[in-house]
Amino acid sequence: MSGKENIQIAASILSADFSRLGEEVKEALEASIRWVHVDVMDGHFVPNLSMGPQVVRSLRPTADRFGSRLHVHLMITEPDRYLAEFVRAGASSLSVHVQTCPHLHRTIQEIRTLGARSGVALNPATPLSTLEEILPELDFALVMTVEPGFGGQEFIPSSLDKIDRLRRMLKKRGLDRVLIAVDGGIHAQTVGAAVRAGATVLVAGSAIFNERASVAENLRELRFAIERSGRTRKRW
Ligand code: DX5
Ligand code: ZN
Repeated sequence: MSGKENIQIAASILSADFSRLGEEVKEALEASIRWVHVDVMDGHFVPNLSMGPQVVRSLRPTADRFGSRLHVHLMITEPDRYLAEFVRAGASSLSVHVQTCPHLHRTIQEIRTLGARSGVALNPATPLSTLEEILPELDFALVMTVEPGFGGQEFIPSSLDKIDRLRRMLKKRGLDRVLIAVDGGIHAQTVGAAVRAGATVLVAGSAIFNERASVAENLRELRFAIERSGRTRKRW
């Protein structure tokens, strides 16, 4: 990868301490996080339940104070039913999984009409070809580097090749503006390889919110690992 990239870390609140969610998010924002990632799970598409629009609504004022985006990752079987509600609650961007959208083009148009940025998420075994037709309509692609559903899982190494192929595909089609976000198993030992493969948005949960160190310390470690990967950031 050549040239300077604007690499962003997105803090996934799934691993935050929910009894003090506002505080945890504020700590991340004070440490210059500008993407907060909200994982929505329905117990159907993924075998876990998490949070809904009310969490987005309650975080919006804090995010606004820092000019941060709230990125909502919808791991639910019928995302179309909830798009408007999440945008009304304050979502800046929405990503949907290919498998959950029989009319993906319409879903993406709807997200854009609602005024949010749009992304499509791919499970580890979902081929890149499922994105081919929709790529020009997207703001970002979300490459899952673990099976969706839980925080704290191991990064799947074959994802690196997929990220690399996606980067090439975007370049070839003149779609470099489409961001490549990666989600799952991102920590100081894996982040460098993901960045070198072409990821520009790094979603991290358990590497940021944990009991080992403060949010600020964890972010310092991640950023240090990104710098060592050889691609320079312009801003955080
Ligand atoms: C997993 C979620 C992720 C999760 C990542 O289904 O989409 O956003 O929070 O957690 P870590 O960074 O711990 O793998
Ligand atoms: Zn996620």
